[in-house]
Amino acid sequence: MKRIAIFASGDGSNAEAIARYFASSDKICVKCVLSNRQNARVHDRMSAIGISSITFSKASWQSATEIVEYLDQEQIDLIVLAGFMSKIEPPIISAYNGRIINIHPSLLPRHGGPGMWGRHVHEAVISSGDSQSGITIHYVTEEIDGGEIIFQASCDVASDDTPETLAEKIHELEHRYFPKVIEHLLQ
Ligand code: GRF
Repeated sequence: MKRIAIFASGDGSNAEAIARYFASSDKICVKCVLSNRQNARVHDRMSAIGISSITFSKASWQSATEIVEYLDQEQIDLIVLAGFMSKIEPPIISAYNGRIINIHPSLLPRHGGPGMWGRHVHEAVISSGDSQSGITIHYVTEEIDGGEIIFQASCDVASDDTPETLAEKIHELEHRYFPKVIEHLLQ
């Protein structure tokens, strides 16, 4: 059995889509969700489907030792960042080098890097007049949004799209493709 740990800080719709996709698999499972926010909705979503979710303190994320020990103890094969709003410290990246992936809500390298998350990305896409946006799944390195791209999928940006309507289109792509890309990587 390949074991996934998801890091999430917010709503957790991707974490839920991934967990549900693998719920009946005998080859891949979501072992746990790690968070930096105690009141994030992802905890409620995980509790409803019986997956352990734990909040680690800011100090634990910064020192990374406790996080790496926990992941090692859980024998995690792949770390999936799904709306994780904190820096991944170098000790975690080196311990799990090539085994950490992130999803970004634009077609990188467009609209990536520091400060480009959530609504900020969709606003930038619309104000740039881009006719297409999409999702990028990539390996995590120390450079924010800079790791090797694994997969992209695109959607049209309509002239009347708002950050909210674009976010809906992007979430739909994320939920459709993220679990399948993870499955492909772990097979
Ligand atoms: C997603 O749009 C993802 O691309 C970005 O954060 C968002 C998380 O959404 N990294 P959710 O919490 O999974 O609903």
